[in-house]
Amino acid sequence: MRNFIQKALNKLSKLDKEQIRTLLFDLASENELMEVVLDSLVDGILVVDLDNKLITFNRTADKLICFKVNDPSDCIIWDAVEDRDIAEFIKNVLKNGERVTEEEFTLNYSGTIRTICFDIMPLVKKGSIQGSVIIVSDITERKRKEARLRRAESLASLTTLAAGVAHEIKNPLGSIGIHIQLMQKSLKMNKSLTEETAGKYLDIINEEIERLNEIIVDFLFAVRPMNTNLKLSHINSVVSDLLDFVKYELKNSNINIHTDLDPNISKIYMDEKFVKQAILNIIKNAEAAMPQGGTLTVKTSEGDGLVHLEIKDTGIGISEENMGKIFEPYFTTKQFGSGLGLTVVYKIIKEHSGEILLESKEGEGTTFTINFPLPQRDKKLLDWQAENEV
Ligand SMILES: Nc1ncnc2c1ncn2[C@@H]1O[C@H](COP(=O)(O)OP(=O)(O)O)[C@@H](O)[C@H]1O
Ligand SMILES: [Mg+2]
Repeated sequence: MRNFIQKALNKLSKLDKEQIRTLLFDLASENELMEVVLDSLVDGILVVDLDNKLITFNRTADKLICFKVNDPSDCIIWDAVEDRDIAEFIKNVLKNGERVTEEEFTLNYSGTIRTICFDIMPLVKKGSIQGSVIIVSDITERKRKEARLRRAESLASLTTLAAGVAHEIKNPLGSIGIHIQLMQKSLKMNKSLTEETAGKYLDIINEEIERLNEIIVDFLFAVRPMNTNLKLSHINSVVSDLLDFVKYELKNSNINIHTDLDPNISKIYMDEKFVKQAILNIIKNAEAAMPQGGTLTVKTSEGDGLVHLEIKDTGIGISEENMGKIFEPYFTTKQFGSGLGLTVVYKIIKEHSGEILLESKEGEGTTFTINFPLPQRDKKLLDWQAENEV
C-alpha cells in the first residue's frame, strides 16, 4: 500500500483530478489505519519533533499522562503535561537529548494509585534524529506481581530462618538450664553454695544470655523487610566508595586490592546502601579467607544484558561439599561466625532482581559474581526509517 502511494507521489504532476482524489483517499485511510493501530496498543506512545512539540499521541498516552489542555497537539510537550514531576522529567531528558529506559512514577488517578513507567528514545528517520518517541506503560500489575513473588519467597526463607533460630538457641538455653540446676542442687544438697561457685555459674548464664541476644539481633537483621529504594546508579562508584572504606583494614591484613572497573558500563537500578552492605559482607569473608594476606580483585563489566560485578580472593577456597551450603542461614565454618553474612547478601541481590554465582577451589581462592539486570525492556528502538522508507 505504502509502496503504491510513494510511487503515485513521485508521479504527482502527471496525475489527473480523479487519480489525485483516489490518492488522497488512500492516504487518509492509511492514516486512519495507523491511528486505529496506535490506539489499540496497551502502551502509550507520544512523538515529538525537534522543537519538542507534540506531533502525535495515542489514546493510552492520553489516558496515562493526563494533559492539562484540551488539545495538546503542537504544544511543547512539557507545557501540556498535568503532573509537575513528569513534566520536569520529560523536559530534562529531551533538553539533554538523553535516552531513558524504565523511569518510574507513581500517580494518583482520582484515588487509584498506579505506577507508570517511561521510555524515551530518539526518533530516527533517514539516518538522522527527527525528534523523540516517548513510551508510557502502566506497570502497576507487574509491580504487584513482583512484590507478591518476593513476599512468597521471603516467607519460605523465613521458615528456614526460624528453624535455624530454634536450632541456634537450643544450646545456650540448655546451658542456662544446666547451670541453674547445678546451683539448685548445690543449694539443696549441702546448702553450701559458695559465692565463688555461684559467681562462676552466673557468669556462664550471663554469657549464654548474651549469645541468645546476638542470635536474635542477627535474626532480626536477616528477616527485617528490606525497604529498598532503587535508583539508577553506577556500580563503579559504589565499589570505589566501599574500597576506600575498607582499604586500610585490608592493608593491615596484608591484602592487595586490584581493581578493574569498566568505565563504560550502564547504570543499573539499585539501593546503594544495601548493595554496599552486600559487597562489604563478601569482602569481609574474603578477608577472613586470606589470613596470611593475598589479593582481592574487584572487576566490573557488561555483557548479555547484564552488569557483572566480580569479587575474587586468593584465599583458602570452599570445599565442594560446603559450596551448596554457604548461603544457608546459620551455616558457618568460623568459630565465632554468625553464618548470616551470605544469607543477607543473597537477600539483597534477589531484591535487585540479580543473581549470584560462585566459583571456588580449595587452596586457590573464591570468586563471587553478581549479575545485575540492565534497566531495559524488550522494546526495540522505534526506528521509523525502516518502516516509512522503501
Ligand atoms: N571468600 C570465601 N572464601 C572461603 N570461604 C568462604 C568465603 N565466603 C564465605 N565462605 C564460607 O561461607 C561461610 C558462610 O559465610 P557467611 O554467611 O558470611 O557467614 P560467616 O562469615 O559468619 O561464617 C563461611 O563460614 C565460610 O566457610
Ligand atoms: Mg561472613
